[in-house]
Amino acid sequence: MPRELVNLQIGQCGNQMGSVFWQRLCAEHGINQEGILEEWATEGGDRKDVFFYQADDEHYIPRAILVDLEPRVINNILASPYANLYNPENIFVSKDGGGAGNNWAQGYSAGEHIYEDIMEMIDREAEGSDSLEGFMVMHSIAGGTGSGLGSFLLERLNDKFPKKLIQTYSVFPNAQEGDVVVQPYNSLLALKRLVNHADSVVVLDNGALARISADRLHVQTASFDQTNQLAATVIAASTQTLRYPGYMNNDLVGIVASLIPTPRCHFLMTSYTPFTSDQIDKAKSIRRTTVLDVMRRLLQPKNRMVLTSPSKTACYISILNIIQGDVDPTDVHQSLLRIRERQLANFIPWGPASIQVALTKRSPYVTSNHRVSGLMLANHTSVASLFKRMLDQYDRLRRRNAFLEQYKKEKMFENSLDEFDDARATCDELLKEYKACESPDYISFGGPEGEQS
Ligand code: GTP
Repeated sequence: MPRELVNLQIGQCGNQMGSVFWQRLCAEHGINQEGILEEWATEGGDRKDVFFYQADDEHYIPRAILVDLEPRVINNILASPYANLYNPENIFVSKDGGGAGNNWAQGYSAGEHIYEDIMEMIDREAEGSDSLEGFMVMHSIAGGTGSGLGSFLLERLNDKFPKKLIQTYSVFPNAQEGDVVVQPYNSLLALKRLVNHADSVVVLDNGALARISADRLHVQTASFDQTNQLAATVIAASTQTLRYPGYMNNDLVGIVASLIPTPRCHFLMTSYTPFTSDQIDKAKSIRRTTVLDVMRRLLQPKNRMVLTSPSKTACYISILNIIQGDVDPTDVHQSLLRIRERQLANFIPWGPASIQVALTKRSPYVTSNHRVSGLMLANHTSVASLFKRMLDQYDRLRRRNAFLEQYKKEKMFENSLDEFDDARATCDELLKEYKACESPDYISFGGPEGEQS
């Protein structure tokens, strides 16, 4: 039985990234722009039904819900060759059409008004699934819609479907060149919901995506289209074992459970190698790839999709490598031994120090120049440096009480700014917990008898 996932894409970033993701999934499953299975796509063995369902007329329809508070991005999707792919009933554009003005509070408040319409779409998708596994949410945390409305929907989803998994693909802003002046406010307020209402968050840092574009693709200023291709490649690869199931890792709950041993530390980093020109325009690197090469590169900080500060104590809580291609399991074993001998990965002192490996089939319909490619999903304590950076940026802005007027216009902030303080405290606690993970007595973190806070 398929374990279906419903994808909720919110705001400009969520919809732009989501649209590249669906294009990639269509290519990998041999589905054309109209949702029709290509005649030549006869290899089988894939599970299209995790992400698509079939309409009465045999069209494959993505389990996708597209939500935005302004029409531009969704209009672009509807003017693209993929316009007919989506179920028109699953597209929500706010009647006001003005967006959330890069203001988390405005996006969150909009949620109160449009909740019913969106929940109706979500309920319909949930009821249409045989065995719904959960939800994927794509959004950015720096603006108003993906961040604020995204936060509101995370709270409600979690409330309404407490037993279903929520995994987000959250784009964190580029710390060097933030394009939204109030991004520290928006990001922190959204982070609180990611901590409290998501089971797993795949962190995609725009700063790291820009750096990888520069280093790997030799593009100095990457367009969103390019960074979205990087992101979509990673998202698709992270679901590869669900779509081409083997004997392990074929549901998301299992993957999440193996990566996240304690509930709050659920912020995952990714690395992918090698990017090829069929995935990303302009990708140049063509090298020989062996399992060991791929696994080594996955461990290099420069390939991580999160910019972190160097730290002597930072370590892995868990690693899952999803390896695709022509692979002999003996090579995997040898590579793991070599990595262990050379101590290429430091693990936490209180858990199993092992890299998990899932070997998975590659789509037969997408050509690749590489024998082997890999995605690493990792829970690593250096993600704390990202939260530290967010806190510092927030504190700098807040100390001057800058730009708060727009927030005070919304009900949540009308009479007090407590919500900001609360979000700051949540972020601070998360940072402390990740740091505590580096110590052997983490087990006693948060309480005298070792219970987690
Ligand atoms: P409003 O514009 O306030 O209604 O909210 P929104 O959620 O639609 O805003 P948006 O998604 O544009 O959020 C702004 C943040 O997302 C900034 O950090 C942008 O750099 C980033 N961003 C916007 N579009 C994209 C995209 O297509 N890809 C990536 N990787 N980042 C994006």
